[in-house]
Amino acid sequence: MSLPLSPQVFAILNGLIEDRAGLHYGPNDVEIGRDKISDRAEAAGFDSLLDYYYFLRYDPGGSAELDLLVDGLVVHETYFFREPDQLEVLVRRLLARRLSDDATVRIWCAACATGEEPLTLAMMLADLGLLRRVRIVASDISERALVRARSGEFTPRAVRSLPAGIEGRWILREGNRVRVEASLASAIEWRRMNLLDGAAIAQLGRFDVVLARNVLIYFGDDTVRRVVKSLSDALLPAGLLLVGASESLLRYGTSLSCEEHGGAFFYRKVA
Ligand SMILES: C[S@@+](CC[C@H](N)C(=O)[O-])C[C@H]1O[C@@H](n2cnc3c(N)ncnc32)[C@H](O)[C@@H]1O
Repeated sequence: MSLPLSPQVFAILNGLIEDRAGLHYGPNDVEIGRDKISDRAEAAGFDSLLDYYYFLRYDPGGSAELDLLVDGLVVHETYFFREPDQLEVLVRRLLARRLSDDATVRIWCAACATGEEPLTLAMMLADLGLLRRVRIVASDISERALVRARSGEFTPRAVRSLPAGIEGRWILREGNRVRVEASLASAIEWRRMNLLDGAAIAQLGRFDVVLARNVLIYFGDDTVRRVVKSLSDALLPAGLLLVGASESLLRYGTSLSCEEHGGAFFYRKVA
């Protein structure tokens, strides 16, 4: 059974979680968080969530524990070839044109979860013979997700939407085990990165393309503005930011300009 969680303790725990990772829960979300927060508190040896809050807030070990709590709360839902049209247009139209004149391109997948998104990009690029000219950095706040990404092993759910020709070439299935061709995972630089850490983002250098798909939905409006500003700063002039199909930046008044290509939307840094 979960530990009791009053609205007041939920609110102060939420404040810590939002400050650390941007995750935003409303007062009605108490049911969503209760089990996960309670499990984590009990694993850390607490039988009161108020005591757990004080530990997170004031104990020298609280920061590391808060990382573990966040890691247990984030949603890692992803799969290969998710929202593929936008990626196809990016690779076949926008990047292929750019790469035709011997250039190299840097791409950052900024909330890659267990890695299916950057690996999908790597497959698309490799199929066109372009992967060796592209540097892909893939990051997430969740160490747990990154361990899976680096392993190159996935669940059958991750391959529920594969186009023809991918299985057998890039993805190998043996019973319930799904593996990705090893050269793809090793072509990607995997790192842990919190999108709220503007200083660490600035250290990554500049990118031609940044993907932040299906992550902004978990943030409150102020956090979205702050993260989009850091991501925009990480773009080279004329660089592109991609967000998820259900996400739009227009109501945040971003300085990026919105473009449509082949039915997919892209945000471009004004050169
Ligand atoms: C639903 S997944 C999206 C994965 C992939 N981009 C896709 O579209 O399939 C959201 C990811 O955002 C990550 N995330 C949440 N808050 C974050 C933060 N503050 N910094 C970096 N990553 C974060 C989560 O760990 C999770 O893996």
